[in-house]
Amino acid sequence: MELRLTTTTYDSVSPVTEKGRRSREMIFKRRTLECCVRLSSNRVVFIAAALLFVSCFSAMNVLRDRLSPPSEKPSVFREAMRNVTKAARLDTASGSSHMSATQHPRLLLRYVKEKPFPHNKSASHLSGEKYISDLASILARFHSRVAVRARRVVNAHSFNYINNVPDACTGKTVETLLGVPSRVDSFTQRQAIRETWGQFSTVDTNKVVLLFFLGSTRDKNIQEKVAVEAQKHGDIVQETFIDSYRNLSLKSVALVRWVSLYCPDSTFVLKADDDMYINVPRLLSRLRAQFDKGPLFMMGTLHLNSRPFRTKGHKWFMPPSEYRQKLYPNYLSGTAYAMTTTAALRLYVESFYVRPLFLEDVYLTGILADKASVPRISDMEFSAQKIEPTGCKFKTHISGHHNTPEEIRKIHAELFDPDLRCKK
Ligand SMILES: *[C@@H]1O[C@H](CO)[C@@H](O)[C@H](O)[C@H]1NC(C)=O
Ligand SMILES: *[C@@H]1O[C@H](CO)[C@@H](O)[C@H](O)[C@H]1NC(C)=O
Ligand SMILES: *[C@@H]1O[C@H](CO)[C@@H](O)[C@H](O)[C@H]1NC(C)=O
Repeated sequence: MELRLTTTTYDSVSPVTEKGRRSREMIFKRRTLECCVRLSSNRVVFIAAALLFVSCFSAMNVLRDRLSPPSEKPSVFREAMRNVTKAARLDTASGSSHMSATQHPRLLLRYVKEKPFPHNKSASHLSGEKYISDLASILARFHSRVAVRARRVVNAHSFNYINNVPDACTGKTVETLLGVPSRVDSFTQRQAIRETWGQFSTVDTNKVVLLFFLGSTRDKNIQEKVAVEAQKHGDIVQETFIDSYRNLSLKSVALVRWVSLYCPDSTFVLKADDDMYINVPRLLSRLRAQFDKGPLFMMGTLHLNSRPFRTKGHKWFMPPSEYRQKLYPNYLSGTAYAMTTTAALRLYVESFYVRPLFLEDVYLTGILADKASVPRISDMEFSAQKIEPTGCKFKTHISGHHNTPEEIRKIHAELFDPDLRCKK
């Protein structure tokens, strides 16, 4: 606002005369007045605008807070962020690094999206400190963002651990986690795997970790035996959800959760049922070859355009109320599939936002993998069928299904027999 009270200027007034002096005084006073008027009117406008802005902004925030579902309230979210930052600082102090990044799903999502893990073999693995400083910079950007994508957590998977092996990957380089979801009472199957293809985990230079994933049982006898087994072998991860066929998806989520929390620097994760034989060396060389083409993939037997079973009573009956679409997304057979750890992290994050279907393979390798944009690669060497339980057959296969513990032992003994001769 330009208030011109006078057109007179100093130069037009004689500097010598008394009249001239008074004129100059007048001009000076007027100028001062002008200036004040200008200033105060600007300030009024400025303050009014600021007040309006602040009140609009806070009204908006209050409204958003009111309207958001409980788990998505910005205020709760900000608090969670503060907690995570605090945890990150505590973690750096105590030297353990990975828990903090994964305590809040959206933080993890951001982390995975912005900073795919170093799965670059020539890059050295991030040390705890570097990890935290990366995390801190991501957090800083996160804090400054007003709009946070609103997604509702429907599957928090907040089960506790009855048995866990949190240090299975600490202090060593782990390339592959062999994860075996297993029925809580499948003691002999687990033992057969430990003594055969699971043995690769006992040689440090293989950089392989073997873990079994179990749910819980109300049967005290079985639980006691599991406790003894966990104590003896140190390879049991048991969560509190009920161990049942319909809860298999929870077990697979437990697997990707575990690797996200405790082994995010590994490169590959295998998920194999406990009635599978796995040719581990063949699996690893296949995965490494694929990894050279890119760090994000899943691999197994691909099912294309499968239809949900809509007949009541069928083992895989899927009511439309649970899954509406005509076709399942393309998915990998749940008997055995492998993925990169980057893929596992993404699946874990997506699992927060999608209610589990009881078909774990459709859920994880179909629906979640679609949402997480993880490419699925079909490899015929992962056999979801029963193949002849002989060393010769498994020489050219990565996996085979429906094997009894005895068959698993037989295949293994033959496959690693130096005198094995196979017909071409
Ligand atoms: C943040 O931490 C405090 C104290 O540990 C806890 O009571 C609160 O529930 C946490 N808030 C969120 C949103 O996680
Ligand atoms: C892998 O890491 C090395 C060292 O940090 C870097 O020079 C190289 O460009 C990276 N390669 C890829 C594909 O990111
Ligand atoms: C799955 O686990 C949950 C959590 O323990 C339990 O409430 C539910 O009954 C289980 N479902 C089945 C079908 O066993």
